[in-house]
Amino acid sequence: MHIDSGNMILFKKAQELQVVKTPETLTDRELTRALRDAIIAEEGAIKQYETVVDAANNDDVKKVLQSIADEEKVHVGELQKLLDRLLSDEKDFLEKGSEEVEKDLGENDSETENGQNNAQE
Ligand SMILES: [Fe+2]
Repeated sequence: MHIDSGNMILFKKAQELQVVKTPETLTDRELTRALRDAIIAEEGAIKQYETVVDAANNDDVKKVLQSIADEEKVHVGELQKLLDRLLSDEKDFLEKGSEEVEKDLGENDSETENGQNNAQE
């Protein structure tokens, strides 16, 4: 085998080793980064599928690709749940962001004067 080809293979293997590093060797911090990368990838896939859905003039293609995009959204939920389990404060940050939007938009989740909860379900 030519030395250049060998180097290329070694380089390729080194890249693969980084990508396929087994979860057992990842710290929790590394795992959270991997999960965030996975969420980004899922979001990118959703965006791509829905872009095609919006552009396509074939109803079968639109229906199946939207279904796939919706499956990717479920994957985002699964990955986010894993992040929530790994990071005790992750959910708090997300809820804080949600509350800030509700506050900015004048929506209120707090109890009214008569003790009833205003939250819409
Ligand atoms: Fe997915």
